[in-house]
Amino acid sequence: MVTITVNGVRREVQAPRDTPLLYVLRNDLQLSGPQFGCGLAQCGACSVLIEGKEVRSCVTPVSTVANQEITTLEGLPARWAKQKGLSAEEAQNTLHPVQQAWIEEQTPLCGFCQSGMMIVATELLESNPNPTTVQIKEAFTTSGPSPHLCRCGSYNAIIDAVKHAASLMGKGR
Ligand code: FES
Ligand code: FES
Repeated sequence: MVTITVNGVRREVQAPRDTPLLYVLRNDLQLSGPQFGCGLAQCGACSVLIEGKEVRSCVTPVSTVANQEITTLEGLPARWAKQKGLSAEEAQNTLHPVQQAWIEEQTPLCGFCQSGMMIVATELLESNPNPTTVQIKEAFTTSGPSPHLCRCGSYNAIIDAVKHAASLMGKGR
């Protein structure tokens, strides 16, 4: 038995301690945002936030993240609502600005990589509310164990979406 906190909720899971966090999220907790791409920390499709930092969940043993705050794509709206002090009612009708920007910019193509992309964007904008194009490129390429890969080539659209998300966050949306 391992106890982890995911999207603000404590969850007890029956899994060997070395089970990749990604398997627990998808198979035990039915959180389908994080995707299995490479399984080797080489693509970023499985990314989640652990204590606000992007982590590749495919190579993270579940036992190593007990008692840490794990946020998946599904938890971004609540994360934003908490940061902005929104009421429960407002929070129910609110997306994270990163998600809102991704929708308004129509960023995804096939969509497979985009959960990980939005996780990185969230990490970046929480520490740097107005990143330059160079800083955005760095966040998606050199900040983790590998660049975040998009087989569909949505890289320019992602840069635009991050800038749009920064604008929405600046307005407090
Ligand atoms: S599936 Fe984890 S980095 Fe590719
Ligand atoms: S949108 Fe298809 S892999 Fe990125």
